[in-house]
Amino acid sequence: MEMKKFCIRTFGCQMNKHDSERLAGLLESAGLKEVESPEEADLIIFNTCSVRKHAEERFFGTLAAFAGLKKRKGTVIAVGGCTAQKEGENIVKKAPHVDIVFGTFDLPRFLQLLEKVSSESPIVSISEKFSDKLPTELPLKRKSRISAWVPISIGCNNFCTYCIVPYVRGREISRPFEEICQEVRKLAEEGVIEITLLGQNVNSYGRDLYGEPRFAQLLMTLNEIPGIERIRFTTSHPKDLSEEVIKAVKEGDKICEHFHLPLQAGSSRILKEMHRGYSKEEYIKLCEKIREEVPEASITTDIMVGFPGETEEDFQDTLDVVKKVQFDQAFTFIFSPREGTPAASMSNQIPDETKKERFSRLVELTKEMALLRNKLLEGTEVE
Ligand code: SAH
Ligand code: SF4
Ligand code: F3S
Repeated sequence: MEMKKFCIRTFGCQMNKHDSERLAGLLESAGLKEVESPEEADLIIFNTCSVRKHAEERFFGTLAAFAGLKKRKGTVIAVGGCTAQKEGENIVKKAPHVDIVFGTFDLPRFLQLLEKVSSESPIVSISEKFSDKLPTELPLKRKSRISAWVPISIGCNNFCTYCIVPYVRGREISRPFEEICQEVRKLAEEGVIEITLLGQNVNSYGRDLYGEPRFAQLLMTLNEIPGIERIRFTTSHPKDLSEEVIKAVKEGDKICEHFHLPLQAGSSRILKEMHRGYSKEEYIKLCEKIREEVPEASITTDIMVGFPGETEEDFQDTLDVVKKVQFDQAFTFIFSPREGTPAASMSNQIPDETKKERFSRLVELTKEMALLRNKLLEGTEVE
């Protein structure tokens, strides 16, 4: 069968969405065309996320629904991304209509896998590291013409005890400084005005390459590129947010005054169990420092409830930080045990009922705080 049209369904974070843009670029460079409707496609690719059970279940539900289409039209079905990396063979066992399973490190060789699919299906290709190319070296088909994601590092070294990301994305690899600058210059020439720098921990950018973080320098260098009007970045790990980075946000006129600073939990004891590398007090102090240096900055966060062993008192510490910092926005989650991570096998798991009850109290308070922050802007004119 000759494949002409493909369709991609993406789950998960911005890094995954960007990977899908690379995948689309790769396939278009081979002469295929992207279509929106799976009915029209000869090839459907799922780019998956495994950060929480819910995300994974949603994907498996969607995947099952495509068995009929496969039967009717012989559509080739491929599964890539974090769940592919984690589950490998199991995906074909659960869903025999899948033709290709490719892990996060196999994205650059997707075309080679595709060439073999008619004779060798199902193909399961899960590598432990990138073989020749990084995904950031692949051609690119961007979704937006004015706004672009720019990964500055891939993977993560932090091993927070609840998190699957380091296992499915590998150790942190920073892209060379000059390569990033070149990409951004090129984007500016193409008319892009807003860039978002991506990494699991942008503040540690460069540590593996240069022996020290160079994120602040990167921000200041990108700030000088003509044509670029806004520079955003995510995610800032609180333990590595330096004074230099805060200073760069303060001084760089194009750098958006926004910090996405995941708190995760307010109790110092739980933070330690999570392996986050900061205490409740250090986190609050950091936010005070930001508000002092860059008063107009917004601070957003991720918080989870129900980490193993979390007591009502620990949870009160989380609420306390929310009240003290007054986040402009908070993404809230219920702890989801991920097989293979230390937290999943801790004995003191929290009952679902308690998790849900804490979750709703947390959501209510974060909404209240967000409204408070938003009200401060009432009647003002902003960029
Ligand atoms: N690198 C980022 C987080 C990436 S994952 C950082 O360190 O902040 C995005 C968010 O998903 C996390 O901030 C966390 O709040 C949530 N998350 C990660 N693992 C989770 C789990 N096992 N259960 C529930 N939420 C989780
Ligand atoms: Fe996961 Fe922690 Fe790495 Fe973020 S810093 S991706 S939460 S291990
Ligand atoms: Fe992103 Fe989900 Fe993978 S959050 S890195 S797509 S596990």
